Amino acid sequence: MGEPLKVGVVGTGTISKTYFEHLAKLPNTEVVAAADLDLARAKVVAEQNPGVRAMTPDELYDDAEVEAILNLTIPAAHASVTLAALGSGKHVYGEKPLAITRQEARPLLGAAEQAGLRIGCAPDTVLGTGTQTARALLDRGDVGAPIAATAFFVSPGPEPWHPDPEFYYKPGGGPLLDMGPYYLSALVNLLGPIRRVTGRVGRARQERTVGSGPKQGTTFSVEVDTHVSGVLEHESGVLTTIVTSFDVWAAKLPRIEVYGTEGSLSVPDPNTFGGDVEVFSPSSREWSVAAVAGGYADSGRGYGLADMARAIRNGGRHRASGELAFHVLDIMESLLESGAQGGQPVEVESTVERPEVVPAGATPDVA
Ligand SMILES: NC(=O)c1ccc[n+]([C@@H]2O[C@H](COP(=O)([O-])OP(=O)(O)OC[C@H]3O[C@@H](n4cnc5c(N)ncnc54)[C@H](O)[C@@H]3O)[C@@H](O)[C@H]2O)c1
Repeated sequence: MGEPLKVGVVGTGTISKTYFEHLAKLPNTEVVAAADLDLARAKVVAEQNPGVRAMTPDELYDDAEVEAILNLTIPAAHASVTLAALGSGKHVYGEKPLAITRQEARPLLGAAEQAGLRIGCAPDTVLGTGTQTARALLDRGDVGAPIAATAFFVSPGPEPWHPDPEFYYKPGGGPLLDMGPYYLSALVNLLGPIRRVTGRVGRARQERTVGSGPKQGTTFSVEVDTHVSGVLEHESGVLTTIVTSFDVWAAKLPRIEVYGTEGSLSVPDPNTFGGDVEVFSPSSREWSVAAVAGGYADSGRGYGLADMARAIRNGGRHRASGELAFHVLDIMESLLESGAQGGQPVEVESTVERPEVVPAGATPDVA
């Protein structure tokens, strides 16, 4: 396996806690430094995690021990932080989305390739047993040839629970850019890349109110569409219907379902690592829970970085790749463009190969 990959975290906000927890369990990564624009935040995290040194972002990019940056900043800062890190010779794994726009994201892939560095991006939930079991079942033909799929993420928005929710309503936010990466990464893993999209968009409210924390009760303006409905045409011909929304108080919709010639598949929430996969067979006329058939067991946020760390040390490809995240961003931007044009179909320019499957029983440091 070699030495663990030495990681520096940039952005020590809400989501950083779960990364520190999971990375501490993974033998091929070691977090050695943490930085934030707000140095006090980085210091708190360093105190809670022995062996982690707090510093400013610029100090972290220049730190000789750090080999890879874990970019956990807000979406608007993803591209600039990633470019700075690549420019300092560090590999980068970051939170989703890869960047706010394709235009911003494209140079990141170019810079990484030119420097011979890796770039990876969340979500890594799709490497867990939920999505990977569904993929194993699909690939071995348990529901025949896939014909169509549905994907639903609907919610009232994050402001009831997130203490600093404004970024969700700025460019780079909204239900599609925030939650779409989970659903689209799962759909591309399951059914392959997407070549054309048709979208319609809506915005229920112009203002939102912070629901918790020190800013509770303050209002802010909404700058993005908060309801996006679309049809995605996969290169394989499969048609997926997707709805993402921050305008829905409650719903009883499934997360992802795939409909095949020989049955149906119910895929668990792609924002979780595990969950039951259910299969409907026309012969039994019943749904049944499938045995785990793939995926990193008991995984959590950070497994995508560990998967990339293995590829850095041993060679081969990493699964939560910048190329996949770029294709996902391209799909999302194309959907919003289609929506802005009143539903004109938009060709998705990029494509990507499906990432390698995660075999059952694999761990990210070895497979
Ligand atoms: N909060 C969640 O539940 C959640 C879940 C999954 C993914 N994410 C993703 O994680 C990322 C971070 O979300 P969060 O909820 O932790 O946000 P947050 O606002 O709680 O934390 C972000 C941190 O980044 C710092 N930061 C911003 N710009 C920076 C820069 N240029 N350099 C250094 N530090 C900078 C901020 O000071 C802040 O401490 C987002 O991309 C989000 O989509 C969040």
